[in-house]
Amino acid sequence: MSTEKKNLLEVRNLTVHYETDEGIVEAVNNVSFDIAPGEILGVVGETGAGKTTIALSIMGLLPKPPAHVISGSIKLDGEEFLPSLPEPEGPFDFAKKGPWKAEQKKLELRFREIRGKKVSMMFQDPMTALNPVLYVGDQIAEVIKIHENISAAEAEKRAGDMLEVVGIPRERYKEYPHQFSGGMKQRVVIAIALACHPDLIIADEPTTALDVTIQAQVLQLLRNLQKEYGTAIMLITHDFGVVAEICDRCMVIYAGEKVESGNLEHIFDKNMHPYTRGMFESLPNLEEDTDRLKPIKGLMPNPMDLPSYCSFAERCDVCEEICKSRNPELIEVEPGHEVACILVTEKLAAQNNAKEVK
Ligand SMILES: Nc1ncnc2c1ncn2[C@@H]1O[C@H](COP(=O)(O)OP(=O)(O)OP(=O)(O)O)[C@@H](O)[C@H]1O
Ligand SMILES: [Mg+2]
Repeated sequence: MSTEKKNLLEVRNLTVHYETDEGIVEAVNNVSFDIAPGEILGVVGETGAGKTTIALSIMGLLPKPPAHVISGSIKLDGEEFLPSLPEPEGPFDFAKKGPWKAEQKKLELRFREIRGKKVSMMFQDPMTALNPVLYVGDQIAEVIKIHENISAAEAEKRAGDMLEVVGIPRERYKEYPHQFSGGMKQRVVIAIALACHPDLIIADEPTTALDVTIQAQVLQLLRNLQKEYGTAIMLITHDFGVVAEICDRCMVIYAGEKVESGNLEHIFDKNMHPYTRGMFESLPNLEEDTDRLKPIKGLMPNPMDLPSYCSFAERCDVCEEICKSRNPELIEVEPGHEVACILVTEKLAAQNNAKEVK
């Protein structure tokens, strides 16, 4: 038997496009990553980088149309969740029969079984994730009833327990979302995501809409739940502070590509990609005396018109001619630390050559 640690989630070469009237949005390009059981992976990137698209792909919730999975593999506990057949070309036509559609249907049924039970998602906006006309308690009980063969009374009791787990008295079971504050609504969303003790929770910017104190409480809660239940978490955020607070590892996404990933030491202290570096330089730092913050100039390229070379080149402070000659490949610069930058690749190659000469 292999002694290697088994991954809970394995995403390989995921490429997702949206086909719109204006053109093809290349939202996610050749992204690969793993999440181990119980691990918290931070996914960082600016708006439009493709973070939510990655999350929806894993949940089987991409809006089709306009989304097309162009290639890739998504394995949860070793089970494949992307169709083995390529999507039919041309305009999307679900009425079209065919082996691709049959496989898609089978996968959709399987997704329904695992969603909520094996993998849950907390959506970006807690204010709209809840149903305004249902009691908060019943919204939790509903998930439990769908997945577990238990009576309504038992599901209600479990939902009350879950409310208490997230710090809300069970007496508030029969209240509506509008009677709850933003932080409490977010706690209900967490309770729903956790109700069936999934192995993986995908939390899409779970604290963005909250003020700083409530944000700290929600993060603490997520961390405690991860410790108690061993739940793995994919935490999407644009805030490195959140990553530092609770993540084990972090991956930086830029224009739909993974540009750097590693543990917190790699990302915070030994980062190498100019985009990661630029993001840190644009943040206030209490320890260093900086006169001025240095924002990254320019904007992310239009995902409908990505360059055939490094997509960060136009904004990069250290860009050289070679950076506009090809797309950078992702290389492992040290165990567990990956970077996609031509200059880094070249520098390492030169160092290795120098070593060989000696
Ligand atoms: N349904 C859709 N139709 C067309 N384009 C879409 C759709 N959903 C997302 N996109 C585009 O895909 C790209 C990636 O979007 P995505 O929502 O995955 O980014 P994100 O990293 O989650 O951004 P944010 O931080 O703003 O949530 C963007 O250019 C976005 O405009
Ligand atoms: Mg998003």
